[in-house]
Amino acid sequence: MSESVSTPPPGRSVLVTGGNRGIGLAIALAFVANGDKVAVTYRSSSALPSGILGVQADVTDAASIDAAFTKVEAEHGPVEVLVANAGITKDTLLMRMSEDDFTSVVDTNLTGAFRVIKRASKGMIRLRKGRIVLISSVVGLYGSAGQVNYAASKAGLVGIARSLTRELGSRNITTNVVAPGFINTDMTAALAQDTQKQYLATIPAGRFASAEEVANVVRWVASDEATYISGAVIPVDGGLGMGH
Ligand SMILES: NC(=O)c1ccc[n+]([C@@H]2O[C@H](COP(=O)([O-])OP(=O)(O)OC[C@H]3O[C@@H](n4cnc5c(N)ncnc54)[C@H](OP(=O)(O)O)[C@@H]3O)[C@@H](O)[C@H]2O)c1
Repeated sequence: MSESVSTPPPGRSVLVTGGNRGIGLAIALAFVANGDKVAVTYRSSSALPSGILGVQADVTDAASIDAAFTKVEAEHGPVEVLVANAGITKDTLLMRMSEDDFTSVVDTNLTGAFRVIKRASKGMIRLRKGRIVLISSVVGLYGSAGQVNYAASKAGLVGIARSLTRELGSRNITTNVVAPGFINTDMTAALAQDTQKQYLATIPAGRFASAEEVANVVRWVASDEATYISGAVIPVDGGLGMGH
């Protein structure tokens, strides 16, 4: 007697954390256009374009991440492409930065990435393939006054990517960092006009970027055109961080 087994639809299973808006949503849409099965995590707002599976998760909470992965695996199969994108800022000068300002940013941006990578890696090892892309920032290597917490969290992602490359590189799993510069999203809209003007003056491209310009690079580095790239830091910053 034949038993009917539900087979996931074709395309890779892609999960983007913090994919309900900003850069994460642009990344999710780029993978949808690529023909992949795309899921995104959201915390509160679940209004998503059609074709994207929303799963609720807070990257500071390992149990919610596990539940989100279980749901994605049931709908789309094991996650083959993970984009750790969720991130926050709590900018202030060191003298005024509380320990909570520091640890909460690191807990979301760096430990949050560790939590999702750890959960995703099991399935990737079983699949014998995987693509991990970590969304860092030019600030991680360049530095930025008022962002000691954020820069530390984003620099930490480089250490994760390079160590993971050494751990999992022989298993057909690549881990890369994409380091955006100044991208037009809610995160940058919150910056003071003066700060925005100062950034603009230092960017060789003479403009800020759209989220799609980051998304295209993420889609590419997770594609079969980039199978031999791992442990790399790919800037998408209009030349701002050259040499860093
Ligand atoms: N915009 C830039 O210029 C720029 C430059 C360099 C790097 N980046 C990095 O790019 C990534 C996306 O930035 P963005 O500009 O698109 O930011 P954004 O518009 O502020 O969106 C941030 C995303 O992260 C999610 N998020 C925050 N904390 C979370 C948590 N604890 N658990 C789960 N999700 C959480 C948010 O979910 P909610 O909607 O639930 O809040 C939202 O989806 C971040 O890692 C950021 O550091 C941005």
